Amino acid sequence: MNTAPRRTVLVTGSTSGIGEAICAAFARDGADVVVNGRDPQRTDAAAERIRATAPHSEIRAVAADVSTADGVRVLTDAVPEVDVLVNNAGIFEARPAFEITDEEWIRYFETNVLSGVRLTRHYAPGMMRRGWGRVVFISSESAINTPKEMIHYGATKTTQLAVARGFAQAVAGTGVTVNTVLPGPTLTPGVEVFIADRVGDNIPFEEAERRFIAEERPTSLLGRLIRPEEVASLVRYVASDGASATTGAALRVDGGVLSSIIP
Ligand SMILES: NC(=O)c1ccc[n+]([C@@H]2O[C@H](COP(=O)([O-])OP(=O)(O)OC[C@H]3O[C@@H](n4cnc5c(N)ncnc54)[C@H](OP(=O)(O)O)[C@@H]3O)[C@@H](O)[C@H]2O)c1
Repeated sequence: MNTAPRRTVLVTGSTSGIGEAICAAFARDGADVVVNGRDPQRTDAAAERIRATAPHSEIRAVAADVSTADGVRVLTDAVPEVDVLVNNAGIFEARPAFEITDEEWIRYFETNVLSGVRLTRHYAPGMMRRGWGRVVFISSESAINTPKEMIHYGATKTTQLAVARGFAQAVAGTGVTVNTVLPGPTLTPGVEVFIADRVGDNIPFEEAERRFIAEERPTSLLGRLIRPEEVASLVRYVASDGASATTGAALRVDGGVLSSIIP
């Protein structure tokens, strides 16, 4: 008999890519899952795809822009408590360093950093009261290897490490853990567009993938893009009961791209 408590998991930015794969993994485990994105149709469609693979889980779709305080309020009003919060929503796009405007810097920090700060501030106190909870920030290997083609993105990903470490210290001893997961280059719709921009869209994608890894991520030991399901596996572990001694940590699923031995 399975006596494990049924948990509610919220994954921000889960209409595609890594976020959707994380939702699907938790749904298959029998958790109740909240899917989120900015657009109601895209959010409903992702929830429907996940529901089809996990008919016994409750899958809710909540459209809300987590880069704004109002959007976060829409989400927290709809879903007041969760057991697992995965701060995954994020944006990235190549832009020469000297061309990044103030507005873009602010948009990147609001989307990639403040969203997770606001949601952790809302959900972690309830987790602490109940004596169990998991907060996972999806950062990136770009937190450590500042990408020269998008320093604003890299800066937000580095900041997430400090934010997560700080929150982990704030919840110490309560049964709640806070960690970051650092994926390396992963095959998602966002990255398909990014790679087409970097190496051209006039060649088959397999060739573009090979060239991108060889030319722009040459330290990859995996030698290919990571698959979203491979990132989801680590997130699923970090959010499990078995990961109770892992907190305040930065965990890599980067295919060996980072050549440092620890982040
Ligand atoms: N793919 C990689 O190589 C890679 C590597 C390292 C780290 N990461 C990190 O992993 C996360 C997911 O990346 P991905 O490649 O899966 O991205 P993606 O394919 O571009 O998907 C991004 C998701 O975020 C949502 N989103 C964007 N802005 C949002 C907002 N303001 N409010 C709510 N949802 C929002 C999008 O939904 P809608 O468009 O439907 O709103 C979409 O579901 C990001 O934090 C990224 O930095 C990715």
